[in-house]
Amino acid sequence: MHTLNFRGESMDKISIRQAVREDMPAINGILNYATVNTNYNLNTKPRSEEKALEWFDAHKKDGYPVVVAEFGGKVIGWASLSRFREYSGYNTTAEVSVYVSVNHRHKGVGTTLLTTLMTMAEGKYHCLVAVVTDNNWASLALHTRCGFTPNTTFHEIGFKNNVYIDITFMTKILDREINTNGL
Ligand SMILES: CC(C)(COP(=O)(O)OP(=O)(O)OC[C@H]1O[C@@H](n2cnc3c(N)ncnc32)[C@H](O)[C@@H]1OP(=O)(O)O)[C@@H](O)C(=O)NCCC(=O)NCCS
Repeated sequence: MHTLNFRGESMDKISIRQAVREDMPAINGILNYATVNTNYNLNTKPRSEEKALEWFDAHKKDGYPVVVAEFGGKVIGWASLSRFREYSGYNTTAEVSVYVSVNHRHKGVGTTLLTTLMTMAEGKYHCLVAVVTDNNWASLALHTRCGFTPNTTFHEIGFKNNVYIDITFMTKILDREINTNGL
C-alpha cells in the first residue's frame, strides 16, 4: 500500500491497495454507475453483487490484480487486469480497466491507479490493452497520458442505448523482458 497526495489538494490523502472481497459492493457500485449512465462500457445492465463476487474470486484464482483507491475510509476508484482473450497465445497480454467515482475524477486518481497496475504488470505481461469507446475522451486522455497508443478503431462494433458504438483498442508494450516460463 502507498499513500499520496491528490493533485492540488495536498491535505487530502488517498491510498492505493490490493482489493479484498469486502470491497466488491463499492467496486461494483462504481462500475454500475458508469454502466447505467454512460456508453463507456458495453454492459447494458448493472452487474449483480453475486456476479461481482464471482468476478473477484476468478481474478484472485487466476492471479489477475484488482486494486482500489481509498479516501476517507471509502473506495473511490478501482482498476484491474483481466484476461484479454481465451486463446493461450494471448497469455502475455492483459486488459486494463480503470474506474473512478464520479465525485473524485480529474484529480489524478485514475492516473495513479493505472500506473500502479502497470508496475504490477511488469515482468508478467508484455502487452496491455485498453478497450475504449470513442466518446470516452477522459479515458482516451488517461491512457495516452500513461503511454498507451491508439490502434485500430472498430467502427460500430458495439450497440448500447440505441446507438452503434466505435471502440478503439489502445496498447502499451511494457519495456522489461517477461518470464514466459509456464505460459
Ligand atoms: C477515465 C477515468 C478513469 C479517468 O480517471 P480520472 O481520475 O478522472 O483521471 P485523472 O484525473 O488521472 O486524469 C487523467 C487525464 O484524463 C483527462 N481528464 C480526466 N478527467 C478530465 C476532466 N474532467 N476534464 C478534462 N480532462 C480530464 C486529462 O487529460 C487528465 O490528464 P491531465 O489532468 O494531465 O490533463 C474516469 O473519468 C472514469 O472513471 N470514467 C468512467 C469509467 C471509464 O470510462 N473507465 C474507462 C473505461 S475504458
